[in-house]
Amino acid sequence: MPCHPSSPQRSTIPLVIAIDGPAASGKSTVGHELAKRLGFLFFDTGAMYRAVTLAALRRQIPIDDEQRVSQLAADLLIQVISSQGDTDRGYTVLVDNEDVTPHLRSVEVDAHVSIVSTYVGVRTALTEQQRRIASQGQGVMVGRDIGTIVYPEAPLKVYLDATAEERARRRYLEKIKRGQPADYESILQGVRQRDRIDSQRATAPLRIASDAVVIQTDDLSREEVVDAVMELVHQRLQI
Ligand code: DC
Repeated sequence: MPCHPSSPQRSTIPLVIAIDGPAASGKSTVGHELAKRLGFLFFDTGAMYRAVTLAALRRQIPIDDEQRVSQLAADLLIQVISSQGDTDRGYTVLVDNEDVTPHLRSVEVDAHVSIVSTYVGVRTALTEQQRRIASQGQGVMVGRDIGTIVYPEAPLKVYLDATAEERARRRYLEKIKRGQPADYESILQGVRQRDRIDSQRATAPLRIASDAVVIQTDDLSREEVVDAVMELVHQRLQI
């Protein structure tokens, strides 16, 4: 699972663990930790949708101009470089060779990324790259549609879930920990709105794949979720 179709490839048999779920369900944290434990590459597909959104905002392309935003997604060179070290998120994102990682979780990107990810042209451009990447190595791939659309052949699909209230609580605590201003009610509203957009869009909506294992994480710590997925990895993949 190299970072970009043009990157050097690892000569391993493709093996993808697909992790899907709603916003703030812990996919990235769990996926990153799982990849570290397995020595797999970590690929957070949400970062690509965020990169397109950031680029559109920076170029002052109106976010509701579907055609221009889709063209931008097709034209941009987005590289998601998995770093197996202890970086915050486990990857670096380059857009046209500039490291944009620190800007991907800004309030502006958060506010617009769900809309950008409804655009068919954007999804087509990014899904194609993600499929190519998935077919080339061993990785943990997280998103909304990995098990259903991007890589339905994944031998292990996990769907991480939690109530909107619990997810908002986690986001709230994350922000407080980082010393950022946080208001629980507005975070909860944002989570609900993103759930609505992600699950109601026409193309590749958030769905549980029929063969996915659902883990309800409300009462579980991060370690307990990772342990539960590791257990599935041992059972299903014999590794
Ligand atoms: O996981 P995240 O919050 O970084 O995702 C950002 C947005 O991208 C979110 O609104 C849903 C969308 N997304 C998607 O539609 N498909 C994916 N495979 C990953 C993310």
